[in-house]
Amino acid sequence: MRSLRGRELKVKRFPAGCRFSKLLLLSFLTVILLTLMLVLTLAWRSWSPSVEPGLSLSGISLVVYKSPECQCCLEYTGYLRGLGASVLVRDVSLVELEALKRALGVPEGMESCHTGVIENLGYFIEGHVPGEAIVKLVEEKPVARGVTLPGMPPGSPGMPGVKTGAHTVYLVEDGRISPFWQG
Ligand code: CU
Ligand code: CU
Repeated sequence: MRSLRGRELKVKRFPAGCRFSKLLLLSFLTVILLTLMLVLTLAWRSWSPSVEPGLSLSGISLVVYKSPECQCCLEYTGYLRGLGASVLVRDVSLVELEALKRALGVPEGMESCHTGVIENLGYFIEGHVPGEAIVKLVEEKPVARGVTLPGMPPGSPGMPGVKTGAHTVYLVEDGRISPFWQG
């Protein structure tokens, strides 16, 4: 009897259905809003270039030599700056660029469009080398001339197109070329 009265009281305390429907509407809207935010976050993630979270090139200074006509070179230097590197761009003729590559020890047949040099360490960074490989080079400081990502693979930093497979960055030591980083 007592419990029945309690139940009646409870029912009387929330008599109007309108309060419930307001709550229902509110939670419905919240769910929609959260879903929308999730979808937008995922869309943004897949749209923005895949850069490892926490990747930073701050404290690294490079000079990048390129021909004045090269557009993807500028995309690449923009990528480096975006990661916090300080980049000086030097426009040179193709003949000068070729001579520079030979002087730095970039192997023939493993060149790309532009050649970067890490200022204090002297390593060359040939082509569209991903920031992760640059960080590895600077951290490990191997006795070497530099690293190269030969050619201009689609989907590499600064290059348009879709990446079709893993890119291999090679370490160039005197008399030895070996895979250094892949991703
Ligand atoms: Cu290029
Ligand atoms: Cu380039």
